[in-house]
Amino acid sequence: QVKRLSDYTPPAFMIDTVALDFDLRDGETKVASTLQGRRNPQTTDITDVLELDGQGLRLLSISLNGAAVPEGGYRIEGDKLFLSAVPENFTLEIVTTIEPEKNTALEGLYMSDGMYCTQCEAEGFRRITYFPDRPDVMAVYTTRLEADADRFPVLLSNGNLMQSGMLDEGRHFAVWHDPFPKPSYLFAAVAGDLACVRDSFRTMSGREVELRVYVEHGNEHLTGHTMDSLKRSMKWDEERFGLEYDLDLFMIVAVSHFNMGAMENKGLNIFNSKFVLADPQTATDADYERLEGIVAHEYFHNWTGNRVTCRDWFQLSLKEGLTVFRDQEFTSDTHSRGVKRVADARLLRAVQFPEDAGPTAHPVRPESYLEINNFYTVTIYEKGAEVIRMIHELLGADAFRRGMDLYFERHDGQAVRCEDFVAAMEDASGIDLGQFRLWYSQSGTPELEVDLAHDPDAKTATLKVRQILPPTPGQPAKEPMLIPLSMALLDGEGQALPLQLLGENAEDIPKARVLPVSQSEQVFVFENVDDRPVPSLLRGFSAPVRLRTNRTAEQECFLYRHDDDPFARWDAGQAYLTGALTAAARKGRYDAVLDDDFLQAVGEILSGPDIEPAFAAELLTLPGESVLADAMTPADPEAIHAARNAARREIGLRHAGLFQESYDRLSIAHDPEDMSTAAMGSRALKAVALGYLVAGGDTGAVALAALQAAAATTMTESMSALQALNNVDCPERRDAMKAFHDRWQDTPLVLDKWFTLSATSSLPDTLETVKRLLEHPKFDLATPNRVRAVIGAFSSGNPVRFHAPDGAGYNFLADQVVRLDEMNPQVAARLVAPLTRWKRYDEARQRMMRQCLERIRRYAGLSPDVTELVAKGLGEE
Ligand code: ARG
Ligand code: ZN
Repeated sequence: QVKRLSDYTPPAFMIDTVALDFDLRDGETKVASTLQGRRNPQTTDITDVLELDGQGLRLLSISLNGAAVPEGGYRIEGDKLFLSAVPENFTLEIVTTIEPEKNTALEGLYMSDGMYCTQCEAEGFRRITYFPDRPDVMAVYTTRLEADADRFPVLLSNGNLMQSGMLDEGRHFAVWHDPFPKPSYLFAAVAGDLACVRDSFRTMSGREVELRVYVEHGNEHLTGHTMDSLKRSMKWDEERFGLEYDLDLFMIVAVSHFNMGAMENKGLNIFNSKFVLADPQTATDADYERLEGIVAHEYFHNWTGNRVTCRDWFQLSLKEGLTVFRDQEFTSDTHSRGVKRVADARLLRAVQFPEDAGPTAHPVRPESYLEINNFYTVTIYEKGAEVIRMIHELLGADAFRRGMDLYFERHDGQAVRCEDFVAAMEDASGIDLGQFRLWYSQSGTPELEVDLAHDPDAKTATLKVRQILPPTPGQPAKEPMLIPLSMALLDGEGQALPLQLLGENAEDIPKARVLPVSQSEQVFVFENVDDRPVPSLLRGFSAPVRLRTNRTAEQECFLYRHDDDPFARWDAGQAYLTGALTAAARKGRYDAVLDDDFLQAVGEILSGPDIEPAFAAELLTLPGESVLADAMTPADPEAIHAARNAARREIGLRHAGLFQESYDRLSIAHDPEDMSTAAMGSRALKAVALGYLVAGGDTGAVALAALQAAAATTMTESMSALQALNNVDCPERRDAMKAFHDRWQDTPLVLDKWFTLSATSSLPDTLETVKRLLEHPKFDLATPNRVRAVIGAFSSGNPVRFHAPDGAGYNFLADQVVRLDEMNPQVAARLVAPLTRWKRYDEARQRMMRQCLERIRRYAGLSPDVTELVAKGLGEE
């Protein structure tokens, strides 16, 4: 049933301590739980009924204050247990059994490659024992684990090890204690035969923290980047936010079956092995960066999420938006700020804008949901981070830091709301964030229309700004928002002009400003502007909005050459390309897609000496097909694919010489195993050059890529060669793919890359290939990484084949969703998204996509996860 924010009530009872005892045995695990609780002093609720959550548990016994509770003393209704006659203070003992071996949903306690592990966020703890499984119940946990000593020599839980020892029958035990009160979703336990890599970190106050990374035996050598990233994250959080780690031990465990990226359990992070294991032979530079960002993200949760947690799941962005903002800042400080900003904007546009424009659109702080697992979205995470970033920009770094300090001063150890964070920011800065709060409650991507007019007689430049807030499900009309619009005006040489607002006094005139757009329509008049300037807009991507301007293609190309703000420069190029490519797609004309002016600018970027290679790679990368589809109504996936290919061919042909030169120069510049930011940037540019050489159609280029694939000694080199070949129907591709497969078939994380390459090739027979991949001996529906590598990659990473006009791609996806839902609803639900975007396409596709949604819905026993998405997808809310 639907849960609503407006229905929130505080818990009637609090739990202060939890003692858990796991008896891990084949087939059945016994969990004994002892809870110390008391009436919640914060509530006037006088009920004597304690409400516990429990799912798929077999209840063996329940006793209250030492006495067995009789049959009539409690009742079980669905996934709830109601215990009556609960006194003001109580001790509750509950014994249940569970079957981790049969747990394919990978929530609660489950098995992955012979080890026991847990995933409790959001509501997995209720699959372990009866408990008030809600984040505003925070307790101190003591956990005893008992298992066979040979098969499970490592026994871990949150906090510090208190005791361990041998028992009869070859069994052993360990007792862990976590002194910090925490919500149940942060509980974790692991039992397995694992190798441990150790290191340590000295905190700013001089405490020595032991660091451990647990992996399968034989993978120890792949943990270096994880350990290094962890130490740098710990240091950065001290320096930037004054936040120090609080336990004496910090552990990361890698597991191969995991629904998401990783989980910030207190003191015992559990990671998808994809984001722990890396060396240059098996992981690409992009994998290195992603791993580093995720290690940082989970570590940063220790303060933003664990010490201060969420009152309820509607507040999820309180911890996720803030923690994503923090990991973005870490990456920006560590590598290149401009490149990171571009990468984040790309992700937002490719995934979050479409979500915000479709039937599953929801505010950063949602008001209702059916299944919370469906709300771990790019809106909660990435748009949530943008909201925090805007607060950071509005307040400035110093006031923002004071706001963070105040937030922790007020709320350490509490479960709070997004509102409490905003209030701390407001109180610490004295800046009114009243109107700004709409970013939390209004869904949809605002559109900002910005037109420049120049009056040569009055010597004024006027920016006319209009905000359009498109309707979204449940929100037909909206109030104007506060949108920080960062801008500059550039003269003919690309120099920023002084920005004197009309009527403002003329001291210290800045050359870039943040305009506080707060009304539906607003004008900003700048004085002393002799000649018509070109406006540089939304600098630094100052707000997550769609920008429309009256800038000409020529002006966009000008900014693409000259803008001094990296984001605005890149964005001007993307705006130009989006215009040119969608125009070609609409007309169905694929010759001379790009203007000479733009092609020339590309040449200047390639030959210009002063540009950071990683940023050049971004400047030279065209908007993806999904971003282009988002800018065309109705979206025509085939036309977009054709237009994008044509543009790539034009660029490749025109600059074949420069690309070859760059490729050669960048090939000798660095050691392929140098993982510095600069070396990775050079390789990114080299990959772009190779891609364009192949796109240009020269057969020599295909041979070059094949040679690179054959000679590669690192995964980055290998993957960039295979990617360059991936859409070309040639024997070189087939041979290189086969060689790659044979070489890596026993290395799951690398084999996933082979699966993804196969599933994302735009060659016409890819759907057939994908169907065959499901029969591959290494395909396994029970492994989320593999499902994502094949089915997810095809449906979200291969628009032209997924949207095949005969609907075969849609039908394929519907079949797989239904098959997977029986096993793992959470991962199944993630796959549904592309089908819910039917409104963007022509009538024939709309009909077929809707039919697929209807077909999924007809299956009996469908999970709430998939049910909710399908219902929303069909517009039934
Ligand atoms: N809190 C985790 C993170 O952002 C994600 C866990 C999501 N789990 C889930 N079942 N939805 O790092
Ligand atoms: Zn997170």
